[in-house]
This record gives sequence, C-alpha cells and structure tokens, in this order.
Amino acid sequence: MSALAQADAAGATGPRTPSVESRLPDVGTTIFTVMSALAQEHGAVNLGQGFPDFDCDPKLVDAVDAAMRGGLNQYPPMTGVPLLRERVAAKIEALYGHRYDAGEEITITAGATQAILTAILALVRPGDEVIVLDPSYDSYDPDIRLAGATAVHVPLRTGTFGPDFAAIAAAITPRTRAMVINSPHNPSGTVWSRADMLRLAELLRPTDIVLVSDEVYEHMVYAGEHQSVARIPELAARSVVVSSFGKTYHVTGWKVGYAAAPAPLSAEFLKVHQFNVFTVNTPMQHGLASFMADSSHHLGLPAFYRAKRDLFRAGLARTRLRALPCEGTYFQCVDYSRVSDQPEADFCRWLTTEIGVAAIPLSSFYADGFEQRIARFCFAKKDETLALALDRLASI
Ligand SMILES: Cc1ncc(COP(=O)(O)O)c(C=O)c1O
Repeated sequence: MSALAQADAAGATGPRTPSVESRLPDVGTTIFTVMSALAQEHGAVNLGQGFPDFDCDPKLVDAVDAAMRGGLNQYPPMTGVPLLRERVAAKIEALYGHRYDAGEEITITAGATQAILTAILALVRPGDEVIVLDPSYDSYDPDIRLAGATAVHVPLRTGTFGPDFAAIAAAITPRTRAMVINSPHNPSGTVWSRADMLRLAELLRPTDIVLVSDEVYEHMVYAGEHQSVARIPELAARSVVVSSFGKTYHVTGWKVGYAAAPAPLSAEFLKVHQFNVFTVNTPMQHGLASFMADSSHHLGLPAFYRAKRDLFRAGLARTRLRALPCEGTYFQCVDYSRVSDQPEADFCRWLTTEIGVAAIPLSSFYADGFEQRIARFCFAKKDETLALALDRLASI
C-alpha cells in the first residue's frame, strides 16, 4: 500500500492546508487596525490612524478620470510614467537642489511602504544589520527581518526625540549595511535640523552604510525647511529617498509613492521592484503628473496643516493633556501623566471606549514597548472633527 493510500485508509487525507513556519511569527494585527475597529465600534472620533477625513482636490480626481477615459489603462514602463518621474525629479531639484536622472534614478512605487521594503530587500543581505531609530514606523523592522537581516533598534533621545549620535555610533558594526531614518518623524512630529544631517554625514563617511530616508512628510514642516538628505550630496550619494503622494495630496488609499536613488542603487532597487509589483497603476500616475504641474498644492501644504496643528494645540491647552512640540507631520503627541498612570495601550483603549477619541500608544512604535505615558493623535481631520474630539478631551 502506498503512503498516500495508507494515510487515506487512516482517514488523514482530504483537503489539508500545510502548516507553515511563519517568517514573522510575532506579527499580528497592527495597533492601527485594532484602534480603528475599536473607534468604529464605540462611535469614537478616530484620531488614531494617520489619514485625512477630507477629500483630495477634485482636480486630481478629474485628472485621473481623464487618463482612464483617455485610454491610459495599460502597463506603464516598469519605473513609472515618464512624465511623473520627470515632475518628481524637477520637484526635488527645485526644493533641495539635487538633480536625479528621471530615467535612471526615480522609481514610482506602490506607496512608500513598498519602496521601503523594496529598498531593504534589494540592498540588505542575510546576516547584515540595519539600524532603526525608535520610536519607528511599524514596517521597518519586519522588512529587515524579511531580508534575513537583524534590526538594531537605537532609541531617539527620551524627551526630545532627537537623534542620539553617540548611541548610533556605538551601534555601528562591520555588519551594519543600512540605516533607516525618518524626518519629519512619525510618531513624534520632530524634524531633523541641517546640523543633524551634517552630523549624520560625518558619522557615515568612513562606512559603506546605505541610508533609507523615509521622507513621506516632507511637505509638512512648520518652521524652517525640510532637510532632505537630497540637499547634502554626500548623503544623497548613499541614500534611497522615499516619499508618498498619498500623504502630500490627501490620497493615502491610492498607495502611490516614489524612490529616488543614485543609478547604482536604483539599478538594484529595480531588480526587486520588477518582480515585486513590476509597476504601478497607470491612470493614477498620469493624474498625479498632470496635477503636479501646479506646485501650489505641495507648496501650500505646510500652511494648510500648520493651521490644523495650531487649532488642535489651542484646544489641547484647555485639557489636562500636555501637548509635546510638533514641528512637522500631521501627528501630535500628548503626555497624559496628569490624567492617568495607566500603561499607554490601556490608556488609549480607555480614551477610545470611554471618552470617545481614538489615539495610538507611543509604546507600539518601540521594539521593546518603552512606556512614557504618551499617546499620538492625528490632526489630518476636518476642523469640525478636531472640535468634536477636543470637546470630549476637555472632559477628562
Ligand atoms: C513614516 C511613514 N512611512 C511610510 C508610510 C507609508 O506610506 P504609504 O501609505 O505611501 O505606503 C507611512 C504611513 O503612515 C509613514 O507614516
């Protein structure tokens, strides 16, 4: 009797899903999904997950509609629609003074998320180490582990969330292949200064470390200018710069972003991109390219979000929550220690279910779950949404 027949006789066959040894055994549902579901269940104002509750400019929708109706619905080139790549290169040059070759150094991606994963898979090898600064966006660590590498988590300074260069220097080893930075920073809302960038350049100078610079909030800086790594030739030469049209044009659900990197890094990036998504949907790219011809939207974004930040902070000043500085992004962190000494996740759950405002615990951005009694709110919301949330927060 064959093994199969024996198993059949034992009643062990039939449809059977093989058990799989998970590549990411400790990854479950993200805190963002959990809090959004809780917010919905309890009718809470959702200031948890980072997305606007208002729509994009109708001109952008019209531009995508025109592209679709105009028959622009088939595969674009692997790296993206040429006009969009050209507009991205022109924008970076106008703002940061560095010219990327639109043909060889810009890739349109399925959001920043795919760009970051692709960069890490392409540039990091099994056994390498990658430095991540905590608190950090939740995709970096699993991306690094999927590449077979080790994420080395270095905390930002407690209190200010500024980079601790002595700690970063101490974390560099001969196996350090890459480092991920993120300014303006989610979740803390801090922004790196030019001096920070120059200090980083100095630190990396003797190394072969590649930088993945997550700049998805580049157009949300409220004082001074965004310090893209593209401004510093020495850093640009070793960096993949990542940004997101979703953040800039209020279309997070479209999942379109880009990566800009010197030709040798872009060539490796494309080898993974080609077999990951190959390319990104065509009409959105044409729509974005046409919309980007007018730079007033991205140039006006700081003023747009500064007004929301100021409105939200003025309201928070009337509550017992202490607003931490917010120099960039659409996130506002608060210290709630005057209100409660519960751990952050418990506090955010209570805030959602009992007070009716959803927030995200900062501890969820730390690999070791570091607790500081800080919660993160997203203020990319209509003024009336913020007003309703503030009314509720005033009651605690
Ligand atoms: C720091 C950071 N990086 C990347 C992303 C992902 O951007 P995208 O939606 O374009 O994939 C986000 C989204 O919240 C983010 O906050």
